[in-house]
Amino acid sequence: MSNNERILAQENQDLAKTARIKYYDIVLEKGAGAIITDVDHHQYIDLLASASATNTGHSHPKVVRAIQEQAAKLIQYTPAYFANTTTATLAQRLVQLAPGDGDKKVAFGNSGSDANDAIIKFARAYTGRSYIVSFTGAYHGSTFGSMSVSGVSLNMSRKMGPLLPDIVKVPYPDQNQRLDGEDDDTFSKRLFEQFKLPFETYLPAEEVALVLIEAIQGDGGIVKAPQQYMDLVYEFTRQHGIVFAVDEVNQGLGRTGKMWSIDHFGIVPDMMSIGKSIASGLPLSAVIGRRDIMDSLDAPANLYTTAGNPVTSAAALATLDVIEEEHLIERSARLGQIAETFFHQMAAQYTFIGDVRFYGLNGGVDIVNQAGEADVEATTKIIYRAFELGVIIISLRGNILRFQPPLVITEEELNQALTILAQVFDELNAHQLALPESDNHIGW
Ligand SMILES: Cc1ncc(COP(=O)(O)O)c(C=O)c1O
Repeated sequence: MSNNERILAQENQDLAKTARIKYYDIVLEKGAGAIITDVDHHQYIDLLASASATNTGHSHPKVVRAIQEQAAKLIQYTPAYFANTTTATLAQRLVQLAPGDGDKKVAFGNSGSDANDAIIKFARAYTGRSYIVSFTGAYHGSTFGSMSVSGVSLNMSRKMGPLLPDIVKVPYPDQNQRLDGEDDDTFSKRLFEQFKLPFETYLPAEEVALVLIEAIQGDGGIVKAPQQYMDLVYEFTRQHGIVFAVDEVNQGLGRTGKMWSIDHFGIVPDMMSIGKSIASGLPLSAVIGRRDIMDSLDAPANLYTTAGNPVTSAAALATLDVIEEEHLIERSARLGQIAETFFHQMAAQYTFIGDVRFYGLNGGVDIVNQAGEADVEATTKIIYRAFELGVIIISLRGNILRFQPPLVITEEELNQALTILAQVFDELNAHQLALPESDNHIGW
């Protein structure tokens, strides 16, 4: 029995089913940059970056050093009671980094999920209204609040209701909603009509606190809303005094080739949530928003013992330094283009590759059958074979390849991963790939 098998067999006895989305039978030992190593010493090129939570790569030396130095000084004193220099410095830096010149404030959390809960709380408190509009295909997290505004998996609401009341979901303008030959303009207007339908039939706009959106949906399939659609929705919120908030947990911090995904649209949100990569994967999240909105709640309406913890804050400051010093935003844009070109070439060659969407080192690639429909089986074959050949890539929504390597991936590693994927596509085309024997139900 390999080390991987032995540890997984043991863990299987202890770990709740819901705690893992099943993909590959590996147990990780270590990571450096874009390379991860398992307990049997196999190395993989990581095209997942811990679910977009390690944009600076695994165990970046500068981040490691910052964590070690801070840990030696003060691991934790809850910022809920007393300030510390590191957290205070980070608060100032984040406020400056968020889009817009207006006055802003920050509130820390431990996860992207609780940051989205915080957005709900602040928006309700500020407006004195209760309704929230969010989108199908959204993943906002796993707490009751963030789960209630999500719309990407039945398992996120199954058996756990009732969820948060007064949530309305409207269709996200993704490619599956687009009619044949429909241009951005017509598509945006048609989907905006669908956005407005609840408001015209049962949802008084003056009772709506918040519109919460991923400007580019992550788990929904790396899908970008058209500019015009975003403008229409944003303008609607201006007309009706509704808070407009963006979830940057997955797509923020350089992932899309810009600092924030909302920067692609030239819109300044009232609030935004960040998490995942902010502390290179340590548990830290934040909500940054307009000062008047953020001042609408009093302590202890939104605080957590470890939120903004000194060690996670030190990791975040080092992470932001690395993003700047190593020009990771430009790097994401440049290397993303290499990957995008590759997948377009593959799409021209193979009919099973459908829509290709890339925004920085951040791609969604649809795998489809001859009828152009989602092909989950082929997707499973592809990602499993890639894994066998030393590339970690997973799927979204069953049939979308999720391409999100650490932004520090070297060009050589990237090309190596693409060469392996080209081989996998060739093998699928030649009907040489089978489903993995043990587990053909991998993925979401
Ligand atoms: C867009 C988005 N928001 C929120 C979350 C939740 O973050 P966390 O898992 O840190 O609670 C995620 C996680 O995948 C996400 O992708």
